[in-house]
Amino acid sequence: MKLLITGANGQLGNELRSIISTGVSEIGEIDTEDFYADYIDVAELDISDLEKVIEFVGIGNYDAIINCAAYTDVNGCETNIDTAMKVNAMGPRNLAIAAEKIGAKFLHVSTDYVFEGNGTRPYVEWDICAPQSVYGHSKHLGECYVKDFCTKYFIVRTSWLYGSVGNNFVRSIIRNGRKLGALKVVNDQRGNPTNANDLAYHILKLVLTQEYGVYHCTGNGECTWYDFACEIIDLAGVNCTVNPCTTDEYPTPAKRPAYSSLDNASLRCIGLDKMRDWKDALRTGIVKIIANGID
Ligand SMILES: NC(=O)c1ccc[n+]([C@@H]2O[C@H](COP(=O)([O-])OP(=O)(O)OC[C@H]3O[C@@H](n4cnc5c(N)ncnc54)[C@H](OP(=O)(O)O)[C@@H]3O)[C@@H](O)[C@H]2O)c1
Repeated sequence: MKLLITGANGQLGNELRSIISTGVSEIGEIDTEDFYADYIDVAELDISDLEKVIEFVGIGNYDAIINCAAYTDVNGCETNIDTAMKVNAMGPRNLAIAAEKIGAKFLHVSTDYVFEGNGTRPYVEWDICAPQSVYGHSKHLGECYVKDFCTKYFIVRTSWLYGSVGNNFVRSIIRNGRKLGALKVVNDQRGNPTNANDLAYHILKLVLTQEYGVYHCTGNGECTWYDFACEIIDLAGVNCTVNPCTTDEYPTPAKRPAYSSLDNASLRCIGLDKMRDWKDALRTGIVKIIANGID
C-alpha cells in the first residue's frame, strides 16, 4: 500500500514513521511490510494550496493519504483565523479533492474540540458538533469538507495528544516542574490523554480496511489536566508540588471544553479498539519522551 503522510514532522507523523519503519508499536507488532510511505511536511507541500496538492497527489498515485498536518496552536487560532481556516479546513478539503481524483482512501485526523464540551458522558461519534473556539470551528469545517468531497474517508478524532517527539503537555509539565518546583494546573476540564503511538497504530490498522466513517480514538479513562500533571510528575520522578486551579484562575484566549471525553464507540463496533488505559499508555510513552530530551 502506497501512503502519503502529510504533517509528517509533527507528533503523530513521527509515530507513524517509527511504526512503519520498524513494524513495532507500543501496543504490539504490526505488519508494515507492504507499506511504502512518502513523508512530507509544509516545506515539501503546503496543504492549503489546492493546485499543488492535486498535482503532488496525482503524481504520487497513492493508495491512501493520512493527513496529520494541522495548525494546532489552539490559542494562536483565535487571532490567526485565516491560517486556522487555510490549514485546518481548506487543507483537508484540498487533500479530499485530490484523493477522490485518484480513487485513494483519505484518513483525516480531527479533535475533541469539535464538541461543545458541556457533556456529562463521553461523546460518541454521532453526537452533534458545536465547537467553541476558532480551532474547533476550523477542524469541524475540515471534517465537513472531507465528507463533502471524498468517498473513501476516515475521520479520526483524538484528544490531549502526546508523542515522543515535539512539544506537548507531558514534556511541558516535566520541564516546568523541574524548573519551578511548583505548578498550578487546571482541575475543571476533563478529557482523555492519548499516546500518539497508540493512535498511529490504530490509524494504520484502520487504513487497511474499508470501514469508512467517523471514529473516536483516545486513551481509555478520563481525567482532568491536574490529574494528568500529577501522574506525569510522579512517573518522571520530578520533585515538584502540583496544585489544582480553576479555568477562571488560568484564562486562555481560546475557550476550552469543560468536558470533552470521547467514547471509542465506532472502533469498538468494528472490533479494532486496542486503546490502552491512559495511565498505562503514559507509563511507556513518558520513557521515550524523557529519553528524547526535555528541553
Ligand atoms: N496535539 C493535540 O493535543 C491534539 C489533540 C486533538 C487532535 N489533534 C489533531 O491531531 C493531528 C496531529 O496533531 P499533532 O499534535 O501531531 O500536530 P503537530 O505536532 O502540530 O504537527 C502538525 C504538523 O503539520 C505541519 N503543518 C502546519 N501547517 C501546514 C501546512 N499548511 N501544510 C503542511 N503541513 C503543515 C506542521 O508544521 P509546522 O510545525 O512547521 O507548522 C507540523 O509539522 C492534528 O490534526 C491535530 O489537529 C491534536
